[in-house]
Parts: sequence; structure tokens; C-alpha cells
Amino acid sequence: MSSLLEEIAAVLKEAQIAFREALDLKALENARVFYLGSKGRLTGLSRGVGSLPVEERPKAGQAANAAQAVAKKALDEAIAKLETAKTRSLGLDVTLPGRRRQVGRDHLISRTMSEICGVFEKLGFTVVEGPEVETDYYNFEALNFPADHPSRDMQESLFVGDKLLLRTHTSPVQIRSMEKLKPPVWIIAPGKTYRRDDDITHSPMFHQVEGLVVDKNVTMADLKGVLSAFATAFFSPKTAIRLRPSFFPFTEPSAEVDIACVLCGGSGCRLCKGSGWLELLGSGMVDPALYKFVGYDPQEVSGFAFGLGVDRAAMLKYGLANIRHLYEGDLRFLEQF
Ligand code: PHE
Repeated sequence: MSSLLEEIAAVLKEAQIAFREALDLKALENARVFYLGSKGRLTGLSRGVGSLPVEERPKAGQAANAAQAVAKKALDEAIAKLETAKTRSLGLDVTLPGRRRQVGRDHLISRTMSEICGVFEKLGFTVVEGPEVETDYYNFEALNFPADHPSRDMQESLFVGDKLLLRTHTSPVQIRSMEKLKPPVWIIAPGKTYRRDDDITHSPMFHQVEGLVVDKNVTMADLKGVLSAFATAFFSPKTAIRLRPSFFPFTEPSAEVDIACVLCGGSGCRLCKGSGWLELLGSGMVDPALYKFVGYDPQEVSGFAFGLGVDRAAMLKYGLANIRHLYEGDLRFLEQF
């Protein structure tokens, strides 16, 4: 009797291990037949109870039934485990939380660029584009920067070949547009620009929107009117602008355009360093010298141009302290806008 009990315990242990370690459902089924099938080992031992003396049968019978029940439970657990593994390997784990679809959005630079273009389009400008790798001729020469002239130093250029560089501003598009179009010309040209500059307000790659108007009887009042309309539409209805004398080889006279400080509104604060004004863009009346490069008659037409820093406009409008945030690709930053 005790030997039958011992055998039942030993075979049960073996069966539990076999079920637990079966690598797939097929191996598990084979193990089930081997231990619990009609000719299986545990089944056989239960039958063996019948050949024991009568007084020993109840105890042995109980032990055999209990062993079968325990083995059956181990089998069920093994089946469940293999089945979840199988659905998981099919990528069908129904216990995982659902996958959220990420909603994308425009990068803050793209968004600012479309906001700027949107304002000028409403004022009657057409959007055009030019190449980012530019020739010395379009980036400097035809914009009235003579070769070896110190005014070229203002532009920390990145040359990529002989007389070939990454454009330092979008102004070359002025020349390219005038070559292609006859006045009246009302264009804006958004795009990437490059300079050897890198600090918290300068990035070696940045963005500008160029504006050019060449038409009959265009005056500086038109320049101021258009830029003032832009400032109120883009920043806030109350945003004032002011023009300060400046110099660019391709405009005469030239003006730096400031907007009233976005933080204090003009009373003076830390952002505007107490002045009440923030520098926004460069502008001026198109220097008649340019017209001879593109075959326009300076007696017939006049115009104005401006170049606006998109990154700077975004920083002012959205209150960014560091331009690098725009280029780090950190979603925690970008998702705020
Ligand atoms: N191209 C000038 C710059 O990048 C800006 C500018 C554009 C000034 C058009 C006048 C007219 O600094």
C-alpha cells in the first residue's frame, strides 16, 4: 500500500513538471495522454487501487483521485499559459491598454511661418521661394554688396564652394523674382537661411520671410503702412511699430523696424532692456542700383523691401527664452503650442 502511495506521489510530481515545461500545446497534449489519458500512468495507478486489500482501498483511492485532480489543475494552468503566450506573440494581448494614436501638429516654426505669410497674403502679396544654396551673385553682388566690401562682414557666411554659399538671408529672392517678373511685384519669400552664429538668440540655421514691393509711386509711407498692418495682425491689435535709421547695401534709405515690447507694451521692462521697444526686422526702399541688375527703369518704378526673422518673431510672440528649444525636437516643449 505505502509503495502505491509513494508511486502516485512520484508520478504526480513528474506529471506536474512535464506539464509546466511543455514548450507548446502539442507537447502538452502528448504529456496529458501520457499521464492522464485512458492508458496514462496516473490513470493506471488509480486502477491499481482495485487490486489492493479492501481495507486499504479507501485511503489509496482518495490519494489517487487527489493526484488526478492536482495533475488536471497543473495541466489547465499550462494550457492557459501557452495560449496567452501564443496570442501575445501574434501581437494580440487583449490585456494590454489600447494604443493611442498620436495627433501631430505643425512645428512652431512652420506655424509661425504660415501665420506670417497668411497676413501678407491678405495684403495682396504672393508667396515665392528660392534656393538655399546660393551663388555669390544673388546673395551679394546683385544686392549691391561689391566684392571685398566690408558690408559683407555683417553676414557670417557659410561657403560650400567657390562663389557658392548657404544663403545668409532671403534677399537673393528679391533679385530672382525681379528677373522673372515685370512690375508690379508684390511678393514674400519664406525660407531657411544660414550664418556662422550660435547662441541663445542665434542658430546657424534660421528662418526669414522676405518681402518685396516694386510698383509705381511706392513710398516709405507704404512701407510703414504695410509693416504696421502686419504687426497689429500678427502680434496684437495694439502693437505699435517705429522705424530707426539703419544701413543695408540693397536699400536706401534703410530702416530697422521695432515693435512695442510684447511684455510691457512700451513702458520698459527686462525683456526690452528698459527701452520699451524690440527689434523685429530690417527694411528700406529698394536701392535703385538693384534695378540695373534686373533691367527695371528706376524712373518708372520704386519699391520697398523687408526681411523678417521668423525664429525671432516666434520667440517674441510665444515668449521663448532660448532659440534652441525650437531645434531640439523635444515633444514636451513642442506640444505646448
Ligand atoms: N536681408 C537683411 C538681413 O538679413 C534684411 C533686409 C531685407 C533688410 C530686406 C532690408 C530689406 O539682415
